[in-house]
Amino acid sequence: MPHLSVVVPTYNEAASIEEVLRQIGDACAGVDYEIVVVDDNSPDGTSQLVEESSRKDPRVRLVLRTRERGLATAVIEGIRRATGTFVVVMDSDFQHPPTTIPKLLSAAQDQRADLVVASRYAKGGSVSGFPFSRRVISWGAKTLSVFALSRVRHFRITDPMSGFFLVRRDVVDPDELRPRGYKILIEVLVRGRIERATEVGFPFETRRGGESKLRLKTQYDYFLHVLGLGFADRENRRFLLFAMIGITGIVVNGGLFEILKRTPPYYSLQNALDVTEATLLLIPASLAREASILWNFWWNDLVTFRDLRTHAHAGFWHRVLRFNLVSVFAWAAYLGIFYLLVSFGLGHLTSLLVAILLTFPLNCGGNRRWTYEGRREKADA
Ligand code: GDD
Ligand code: MN
Repeated sequence: MPHLSVVVPTYNEAASIEEVLRQIGDACAGVDYEIVVVDDNSPDGTSQLVEESSRKDPRVRLVLRTRERGLATAVIEGIRRATGTFVVVMDSDFQHPPTTIPKLLSAAQDQRADLVVASRYAKGGSVSGFPFSRRVISWGAKTLSVFALSRVRHFRITDPMSGFFLVRRDVVDPDELRPRGYKILIEVLVRGRIERATEVGFPFETRRGGESKLRLKTQYDYFLHVLGLGFADRENRRFLLFAMIGITGIVVNGGLFEILKRTPPYYSLQNALDVTEATLLLIPASLAREASILWNFWWNDLVTFRDLRTHAHAGFWHRVLRFNLVSVFAWAAYLGIFYLLVSFGLGHLTSLLVAILLTFPLNCGGNRRWTYEGRREKADA
């Protein structure tokens, strides 16, 4: 079983494929490797060239597909056929320099990473030959995935669009990947069982020979792909649930307040204490607030963080305590932001809404990371 499988999808790359295979071989000298070329029956005869190479060198394998076409499915097929512990996926047009392969491999080994992304935007990375329009599209696409996909944020992936990456073969199940269009890396990121990921910068060069298969349709496919993955994203669903439960919490807070100030104990306090009504109302207001926090805790513990509960380092009462502390902290931040915005002259209601929106992620994220923090190693988001 080789240590490394290099998966190279090709379509009409006769101009460069032989040289790429040679250079991959040079770059992998000293490693036990195989190269899996997945060609979709290119009319320019790419597969014949690969076949010839594989006759000379058994480490080169050709997977010839005659019924299917498409980059993502080709890559998945390559991953399925790969037998190495690690799989590198790369283009065959020299835009992905083979000399980066050993860097990916040593990053994976040194940092015990399941995924290593070759990034144009990480330290040491660069892009050459991209016209302004494609730079803008690339930036937009990247920003979209940062917003939509928690894994991209969590691992701080600077180049989620990259077609050049290394992944441990055993953390991806090719049958679980749902390819759509071009971008297979976000699929691997979201659906793979990746616990550690890192990046290596690389210079994205200009294509040598042949032409790009990137079309407008590719961008559209990508857009749908990211949206779909966004809904499948566990952390995004958590966020949504937390917000929904938070809204029911507001109802509980208000309802209970209305009930409490109509109860006999409240009337007797009213008679016993000589304070203004506003001061006295602080009592039912605090009680109702605490009740709503407990209500929120209960439902979030049961639903939102269901999968984390059993692995959490904190026991039930400890979680109750932490949940309360996070609430207090978020509440203080909420007041602070509100105060600042109002003193900057922003409208009152606008300030309030902005403060709510800004502190919500703090509340949700704080509990996600602290209250439900995993036992030894931190559970990853
Ligand atoms: N088997 C197969 N089938 N291979 C394909 C197909 C296909 O339908 N379409 C493209 N390929 C192969 C090409 O032969 C090349 O080796 C690689 O996939 C990338 O295709 P390009 O057409 O060169 O893509 P690109 O240069 O525009 O895009 C690259 O850079 C992007 C970053 O901006 C790719 O690496 C993208 O994945 C990456 O997002
Ligand atoms: Mn290319």
